Amino acid sequence: MLMIEHDVIIVGGGLAGSRAAVAIAQTNPNLSVGLISKVHPIRSHSVAAQGGIAAALKNVDAHDDWLTHAFDTVKGSDYLADQDAVEILTKSAAEVIIDLEHLGVLFSRAEDGRIAQRAFGGHTNSRACYAADKTGHAILHELVMNLLRLGTKVYQEWYVMRLIYEEGEVKGLVAYCLETGAIEVFKAKAVLFATGGYGRVFNTTSNDYSSTGDGLCLTAIAGLPLQDMEFVQFHPTGLYPVGVLISEAVRGEGAYLINDLGERFMGNYAISKNKMELSPRDITSRNIAQEIREGRGINGGAYVHLDVRHLGKEKIISRIPFAREEGMRMLGIDCIDRPLPIRPTVHYSMGGIPTNIDCQVIGVDSQPIAGFFASGECACLSVHGANRLGANSLLECVVFGKRSGEKVAEYASDRPMPKFDPTIYQREAESKNKKLLTHQGNTRIAELRQALQDLTTEHCGIFRDRTSLTEGLEKLQGLKHRYAEDLHLDDRGEVFNMELTAALELGSLLTVGEIIMTSALSRQESRGAHSRSDYPNRDDSNYLQHSLGYLDGNTVKTAFRPVNLSLQAVDRDRFTPQERKY
Ligand code: FUM
Repeated sequence: MLMIEHDVIIVGGGLAGSRAAVAIAQTNPNLSVGLISKVHPIRSHSVAAQGGIAAALKNVDAHDDWLTHAFDTVKGSDYLADQDAVEILTKSAAEVIIDLEHLGVLFSRAEDGRIAQRAFGGHTNSRACYAADKTGHAILHELVMNLLRLGTKVYQEWYVMRLIYEEGEVKGLVAYCLETGAIEVFKAKAVLFATGGYGRVFNTTSNDYSSTGDGLCLTAIAGLPLQDMEFVQFHPTGLYPVGVLISEAVRGEGAYLINDLGERFMGNYAISKNKMELSPRDITSRNIAQEIREGRGINGGAYVHLDVRHLGKEKIISRIPFAREEGMRMLGIDCIDRPLPIRPTVHYSMGGIPTNIDCQVIGVDSQPIAGFFASGECACLSVHGANRLGANSLLECVVFGKRSGEKVAEYASDRPMPKFDPTIYQREAESKNKKLLTHQGNTRIAELRQALQDLTTEHCGIFRDRTSLTEGLEKLQGLKHRYAEDLHLDDRGEVFNMELTAALELGSLLTVGEIIMTSALSRQESRGAHSRSDYPNRDDSNYLQHSLGYLDGNTVKTAFRPVNLSLQAVDRDRFTPQERKY
């Protein structure tokens, strides 16, 4: 049976995947690289990233440096980040920004012509470089142009159904072409996942419709663990009610959060007066949720106000044009004249596929899996620990996208092509799709997906506890059963059958949702974005550890592994876990 062969296959065409493709070509132009994406790469969710990319360039704050950036990141992570990975992230930041400029990215400029930088929550200094409030858009377009120029073969609108992992080695994958319905087996010396996040597991999210956690699910189904999945980032300012992102750049430029009493309520919490709206996201989101819970949402509703009127028309139009456009387009509100209604929205996954600092995926025993790499949001290095700082995600995608490309190129350069029999994988995928296409059930995809999204949001939201999680997991078993036994698709065709894709994606959402909730149940403490009402304190003696959630048959099991605190060697007192105050 014929297979499609590449030295390296990248899954995902967002910032991490695209940056990796460019790095592979730059490291070894003789390698054949295939990039598979379920959307056109420029439609990957990275294109929606808005506010900025962090780097201690010192263009605004001359005393900034990588070590301060590293400290902010570790403290922001509630000390769960691996400090060796944070060191690489923050030390490489300035260099990757310059590198992006050389690849053609146009950043906004300061008066003196240097790259402009703005304030972001939890960062001591103004260090977010930006392109107005469309930063992801500016970077992704240039990276995709570059990877095409360098000869990467792009399989756009292909959906990956299976990771081929046998004899301790990843050897390829199975994917189907959305346009024709054809299923193909791909063989590679190495596979790099850059598949993004899972925001669509929840009912209110800033994420694209395609953020369904497919790469995470494929990894779990292969029997490999997912790390720190209980840490779900709620971005404080999702536009109410739709949940789309109103960038942190808006608060970086000076916006106020206002409750029904007209108060800048962040000042009522234990936060220093110079932080206020620029506190880290976990804290800001919890405070907004608390205001709403206690009846101080606007008119008693489930939202508060984000007010930029005092910034003035000129600044709003030049610095945050997209936020203004969103308010006008979605709600008919021009923020020059009226405040925007906002509430927290699911935005980012701190957890993901565990990797070492060379982006090699690791197993439960912390040993690398041959032929398998991951970077970007789907990976858990972990540079964000229990809470990511804004503007550190684009940075992670670029720093570790590049690094993963270099490492995978080195790995694939002197490996033979693996051997396996594709027939079994081809048949398995064909019968999976056939079953979905011919099953005569009664449950519609949209109904089941909504039930899952409502369940995770209700039982595993900003605040969770044993009762909510246990009940949620029980209900989720019922949804899994309906998915397996009672699904009904109207479209039975093969060409661009988006219902079939949605059915496969729903399988990912269910698996990832179960691992998130099980991991949340196993961590009996509150840390960063994981806030257990029944365990309100951080517990370093038991949980200064990464959680691992993995499938054992049809059940999710959990384990823990230690955090790497190695940066303490550089600045011991500063980086030792301590109470987190802002
Ligand atoms: O608010 C924002 O613009 C998002 C930035 C980020 O998540 O890093």
